[in-house]
Amino acid sequence: MPVLTRCLIALFVMSLLTFACTPKTATKIDTSNVPVVTYSEISPIILRSCAPCHFPDQGGNKPAFNTYLLAKSNMAKMLKRVQLPQSNFRFMPYKGKKEALSQEEIELLKNWALGGYREG
Ligand code: HEC
Repeated sequence: MPVLTRCLIALFVMSLLTFACTPKTATKIDTSNVPVVTYSEISPIILRSCAPCHFPDQGGNKPAFNTYLLAKSNMAKMLKRVQLPQSNFRFMPYKGKKEALSQEEIELLKNWALGGYREG
């Protein structure tokens, strides 16, 4: 193989490696300003508005949100539902049967997620 071709191939491979190894810092979310929110602050909100339907220990038969791990793993779709317009049939709490979350409470849930789901 001619030297020039080898050089071009080497250059191409190096540029690929450089691209692949560049950290994608620009897309990282800065969470340093997110207020500290713990599970003990958000669990009373879930209990007030999502029980009994999502609490199997209270006879609920809907997907359970009554523990730390369940709240953590379901938080994305929970947040989606509570932020729908109340007229949407997917809005939660279901059919307005329990008290809706206030904007502050929704922010609290969001910050709990952004802050990495603190347990204590
Ligand atoms: C009065 C009973 C009741 C209450 C209270 C209630 N839900 Fe629901 N939930 C339901 C029913 C019924 C369904 C199934 C129908 C549907 O998906 O819309 C459901 C489904 C869901 C789902 C979809 C679960 C899945 O995995 O498919 C989410 C998420 C959800 N609820 C979130 C909440 C949140 C968050 C609260 C509290 C703020 C809440 N719900 C309060 C009755 C309730």
